[in-house]
Formats: sequence, C-alpha cells, structure tokens
Amino acid sequence: MNIVITGGAGFIGSNLANELCKNHKVLVIDNFDNNERFSNNKRKYFGTYKNLLEFDGLIYSANLLDDEFYAMIDSFAPNVIYHFAAISDTTVYDEEIVFKSNINTFYKIIALAKKHNAKLIYASSASVYGDAPSPQTVGLNEIPKNPYAFSKLTMDKIAKDTGAVGLRYFNVYGKNEFYKDTTASMILQFALQILNNNSPKLFVGSDKIFRDFVYIKDVTNANIAAMNANGGVYNVGSGKARSFESIVDILQDLLIKRGILKERLQKTYIPNPYTNAYQFHTEAKLDDSFSYRPIYSLEDGINDYLDEIIKIFNNK
Ligand SMILES: NC(=O)c1ccc[n+]([C@@H]2O[C@H](COP(=O)([O-])OP(=O)(O)OC[C@H]3O[C@@H](n4cnc5c(N)ncnc54)[C@H](O)[C@@H]3O)[C@@H](O)[C@H]2O)c1
Repeated sequence: MNIVITGGAGFIGSNLANELCKNHKVLVIDNFDNNERFSNNKRKYFGTYKNLLEFDGLIYSANLLDDEFYAMIDSFAPNVIYHFAAISDTTVYDEEIVFKSNINTFYKIIALAKKHNAKLIYASSASVYGDAPSPQTVGLNEIPKNPYAFSKLTMDKIAKDTGAVGLRYFNVYGKNEFYKDTTASMILQFALQILNNNSPKLFVGSDKIFRDFVYIKDVTNANIAAMNANGGVYNVGSGKARSFESIVDILQDLLIKRGILKERLQKTYIPNPYTNAYQFHTEAKLDDSFSYRPIYSLEDGINDYLDEIIKIFNNK
C-alpha cells in the first residue's frame, strides 16, 4: 500500500513510519526543525531526521500551511493517510496559529482522503477531556482547557461521519521523543534528572496527580490496528491511572537494580505553574469495539525504554 504519514519525523509518526516502511511504500511529510520558536520560546517543529535513521521510504519537507504539502500527498495517491502533523505543544496559547495549523488544514486532509478513497487515521488527544472525571470516555464531558485541546476536539467534530478514525492518545512516552525538549514525557525528563544525579523535580501534590501513561510500542500497535477500525473516535491509553511519584520510584528502583544508582535520591517539590489548564486525573476508558489492547504496564514500558534513555544520556 501507499501510506502517507504527515508529521512522520516527529515522535509518534516516526515510530510508525519506521515500522510500516518494512512492508509498505511510505511517504513521510513534515516541516523539519528550522529552530523557529513560538512566543513561549518552544520550537515550532519537532521533526528531525534523527528519528528517521531506520526509515526506508520517501521523505518530503513541507509545511502544512503551504499548498505544496497537499500537492505532494495528492501525487503520491495514498491508500492510507496518517495525519500527525500539528502544533503538538499544549502550552502554545496563540489561538490563531494553533487553529490555522490544526483545524484549517484538516479540511484539506479530509478532502484528499476522500479523493483517493484513502483510509484516514488522525491524531486527536486526551486533552479534549480537560477535567472530566475518570475514566474518560469518548462522547462524555469533553471540555477542553486550552487552544490545543479545543483544536483537537474540533477535528473530531469535522471528521464525524467521514469514516476517518481519530485516536485520542493519552500521555505517550518512549523512543524518539527526545527531540521534543521540555514537551517530552516526564518519564524521560525525570530519568535524565536522576542520571545526572540531580534530585527529581515534581510539582507540589504530585502524589495526587494521576495520568494514563501509554508506551509508544502500544501506540504504534494502536495506529496499525486503526487501519481496520470502523470510522469514529477511540481512546488510546494504558487504561490505568498512575502518579508522577510512581514514575520516579520505578525509575530509581530500576536504576538501582541495574547498579547505575546507589540509592533513591530525594525528590524536590516545585509549584505547578499550569494549575488552570492542568489535567489532574486521566484514565482511558478503552472501547471493546476497537481491537487495540495495550500490553505494557508502566513498569514494563519504563523497563523496555531504559536502555534507550541511558543511550540518550550518554550521548549528551
Ligand atoms: N505525544 C503525546 O503524548 C500525544 C498525546 C496526544 C496527542 N498527540 C498528538 O499526536 C500527534 C503526534 O504527536 P507527537 O508527540 O509525535 O508530536 P511531535 O511534535 O513530535 O510530532 C508532530 C510533527 O508535526 C510536524 N509539524 C508541526 N507543525 C507542522 C507544520 N506546520 N507543517 C508540517 N509539519 C509540521 C513536526 O515537525 C513534528 O514532526 C500530534 O498531532 C499530537 O498533537 C500526542
């Protein structure tokens, strides 16, 4: 099959691209990093060739906001389109640029999927649930708390009844997230603090902040399963809420077991600057009608990821 992956040089897209290129003709289209910054000083584009060193397929560098992006997809005549390209940073509050990038462009992606009769699978987000009580369930209590989350909920509304599959990823962690800097998962960020022998920094009250952390290998499997899913929106999480405290404890215990750390470091608590737009408890309600089944517990995922994290640390 001909498969397009927009945003395929980013975290989730590159993991899928590196897998699908083994059996399909894959086009990755992404605006690679040019070091431009948003007003919050975060990089605009997290895509990098470093995520595609194992990729064997076509690569095209273009911006979602430019016509050549769609012309390239059109000429590739895709059977499947995975759409990940987006402003993925929940702390970009400039509504105009978030909506132009995430919402306006989606109409063009849907039109291309329709023209080529291609299966469209796109990235929605668990952020659409805001403070909704756990377990978060598709169709219930969707009250976004920032422009990013609003853009993703709007995409779900635009895609309704088109046959497209929207996947609401919860907190994803794993290989190829390193280039997302401070928007990379707290699993990686805590691990690097600990490996640097620095006290891991948690927000005050972290023992009461729970998230559904889902490992990238499960997410890649969900993306592949989505090719055969009925049109609709599905949660992609582990189905289990875990605290930020647990991440630090699991990491420290694994590092002690491997002889890399002598004893648990003391945690430091810092004020949470995001309390107005923060999710304090997420846990995905998984849908039986979607064949995706997560395999990795937080312990298993972190253990599987640890060699990669140590490699990242040693290359710094
Ligand atoms: N990682 C998570 O935990 C998570 C959770 C929920 C939803 N999502 C969504 O999943 C998708 C992939 O997330 P990710 O973590 O891989 O993020 P990412 O930032 O690593 O990937 C997004 C990719 O899109 C590209 N891109 C951004 N703006 C572009 C533009 N204007 N033109 C062309 N390319 C552009 C970036 O270069 C990057 O490679 C995103 O849509 C994100 O919103 C991610």
